[in-house]
Amino acid sequence: MNQKYYIETYGCQMNVYDSELVASLLQKSGYVETDQIHDADAIFLNTCSIREKAEETVQNRLSNFHHLKRKNPKVIIGVLGCMAQNLKDDLLESKPFVDVILGPDSYRKLPEFIHNRKTQMDHLADTRLSKFEVYEDMFPTRKEGVNAWISIMRGCDKFCTFCIVPFTRGRERSRTIESIVHETEQAVREGFIEITLLGQNVNSFRNPDGGDFPDLLEAVAAVPGVQRIRYTSPHPCDIDDKLLNVMLNHDNICNHIHLPLQAGSDRILKRMNRTYTQKEFLNLVDKIRMILPDCSITTDIIVGFPGETEDEFKETLKVVWSVRFDSAFMFKYSPRPGTKAVEFNDHVPEEEKQQRLERLIALQKSMTLIAIQKQIGKSMKVIVEKESKKSRDQWSGRTDGNTWVIFNKSGEKIKDIVDIKITDARGVSLFGERIQMEVTV
Ligand code: SAH
Ligand code: SF4
Ligand code: F3S
Repeated sequence: MNQKYYIETYGCQMNVYDSELVASLLQKSGYVETDQIHDADAIFLNTCSIREKAEETVQNRLSNFHHLKRKNPKVIIGVLGCMAQNLKDDLLESKPFVDVILGPDSYRKLPEFIHNRKTQMDHLADTRLSKFEVYEDMFPTRKEGVNAWISIMRGCDKFCTFCIVPFTRGRERSRTIESIVHETEQAVREGFIEITLLGQNVNSFRNPDGGDFPDLLEAVAAVPGVQRIRYTSPHPCDIDDKLLNVMLNHDNICNHIHLPLQAGSDRILKRMNRTYTQKEFLNLVDKIRMILPDCSITTDIIVGFPGETEDEFKETLKVVWSVRFDSAFMFKYSPRPGTKAVEFNDHVPEEEKQQRLERLIALQKSMTLIAIQKQIGKSMKVIVEKESKKSRDQWSGRTDGNTWVIFNKSGEKIKDIVDIKITDARGVSLFGERIQMEVTV
């Protein structure tokens, strides 16, 4: 009988994609997936280190695995991903029941490690980072759905001073346009109609054979059957006119840019090593809106970075107020050992961070509401993605701008693209009615 694996994924979409690569490796070596942890012969956690809380969640989860191992000493427990990279020694010491530890550039070793672990007493670990590994020749095993993730580059060379990613994921390296187009074609053949191109710095993509990120977008947009293309996360510094014009010229590239601001104050931006000023960020937003008037803009913001004063925090509020982001992910600064920012000696107290976060969330909530209320009365193309959580009689789907729309079912099926007239906007969602096209004979 086939051995079974179970995998849980934490962190960003890059990890979701990597888990799909791991699934395909395991299936090639004869494993089948189970969603029942107690049935599994091998259990994997694909982990994240971005904030302390992310690591705590995984540590707690791992502690629960102790009893699984006691019940069935043969079960293999593996830690993959960014925490494996970041906390290898700590994990080996504090969780001795972990059998296999593999960093993000070592997944090809997984089948060999599982095999060896069965005959070997000691745990096995490989967290060497590679300058070259992009898993070019591997196809991920995807779960059914509308959207297929495709990782186009790995690593990050930007070294924002708060961020662990350059340490857990290593240096930037890109796949070839050819292999990404090939993977897109395969995803379309498997029934996916939306493609999201992924990278920690997606627009620093450089084709090894020549060509940049806009060239790649054009190539993917030309693949027959691709209804929508998204990408995440770009760095504001690498957004240029060429990229915006490619977005303008292709209907299937979504009118949405995730544009991480991080902070509004120039002094804090400099301390963060973000390489742009508030003015440059605002000018970029103006340019995006000039070239792509309907483009939605979303962001990431950190409050309470070391040394951030009340007035500097207010600069963040000012930018949020003037840009009116469609939505935002907002975080309290979390010190990451090994990064430059932990060495600053003027950390902001926890209560202050919490209070700033709450003020920022309240402001952004009203900005999101303003942004979605502007959509009332418009008609929009929506891809039917899933049943609404609130009612079995309603669908949920996303607009081009990445906002969820809820509408009554009337014979549609998942993946249909329908025209919806927006009638209401509440919280973070839109509500609408299907526009029934009149057929003239
Ligand atoms: N590569 C992407 C983001 C990666 S991490 C980019 O450059 O935009 C996603 C978000 O987590 C970041 O944009 C940042 O807002 C947040 N983040 C990263 N490190 C953090 C830390 N130490 N504390 C709090 N938030 C952090
Ligand atoms: Fe982290 Fe900055 Fe790289 Fe984004 S660009 S992954 S925030 S170092
Ligand atoms: Fe987390 Fe690693 Fe992604 S730290 S956010 S899983 S790149």
